Amino acid sequence: MFDDRFARRMAARYRKKGLDATARRMVELLAERGVQGASVLEIGGGVGEIQLELLRAGAASATNLELSPAYDAEAARLLAVAGLANRVQRRLVDIAADPTAVEPADIVVLHRVVCCYPDYEKLLGAAADLRRPSDGTRWTNEQLLFHMVFGFMIVRVLLRLVRLLGRLPAPVGRSFAAVLDSARRPFHVVNYWGSCGAALVFNHARMGWICDRTIAALQRHLAREAEDSLHRGMAFPTSWDPYFAPYMTLADVYRYPSRHFEHHRRQLTLRPGPGGP
Ligand SMILES: C[S@@+](CC[C@H](N)C(=O)[O-])C[C@H]1O[C@@H](n2cnc3c(N)ncnc32)[C@H](O)[C@@H]1O
Repeated sequence: MFDDRFARRMAARYRKKGLDATARRMVELLAERGVQGASVLEIGGGVGEIQLELLRAGAASATNLELSPAYDAEAARLLAVAGLANRVQRRLVDIAADPTAVEPADIVVLHRVVCCYPDYEKLLGAAADLRRPSDGTRWTNEQLLFHMVFGFMIVRVLLRLVRLLGRLPAPVGRSFAAVLDSARRPFHVVNYWGSCGAALVFNHARMGWICDRTIAALQRHLAREAEDSLHRGMAFPTSWDPYFAPYMTLADVYRYPSRHFEHHRRQLTLRPGPGGP
């Protein structure tokens, strides 16, 4: 049904009349709210006329997801004429079947798509999942995912600290922890915004890779650790994280990220994928 003929008809209509009334209203509404510099994800975007208009209104880039490749030639013509070809990526992806194949965007658009897909709940769920707020934190699911990965990344720093301060007299470690405790406010601000920013750079596609690499490195370190060094410890700033204890050994630090991960995993509001629980 969504073949070359349909694509030619859609492109011809857009060249002649511009956007239809609904699409125009959608672009106007988004432009009123501000699209400057935004990334756009259009699901089932056909020849991509809505993306074109959003780019003209100031959006930075667009990704078009389609089930049918029949639109690509017409879409390329429209983009070439508008001089916007280098700002649009066209991909053949069924987002409902594979929600993690796509990076989140500032704006997600669906126009006349829900009616064409047999499982609209799955389609809309996939569009919204990573951007949905998590349960009990101010982060979205994707931002929280970064924070969970960060829990593993920070262990490499903590291990170095324990190795260093664990050799010094206990009062030195306690003073250091007290200084960190007193800086809990700026720490929590940085911690919050850090995950917001990092989720943009290390989106979920790269996060999995970073997480695997970090865990593998921690496993290598742990395998090389001498038994007595695992008992070495230092005072920790308990106000920084609920899983920081007043005194933690190297063994406790190795255990920390899995507990932190498990705690936050329960706050994710991602829906189970196909075959999931
Ligand atoms: C009626 S066309 C509308 C095209 C365009 N949005 C427009 O308004 O002219 C619906 C399009 O949605 C696409 N589509 C449906 N379900 C999809 C999904 N799960 N992922 C990506 N594209 C999808 C179909 O391939 C089809 O091209």
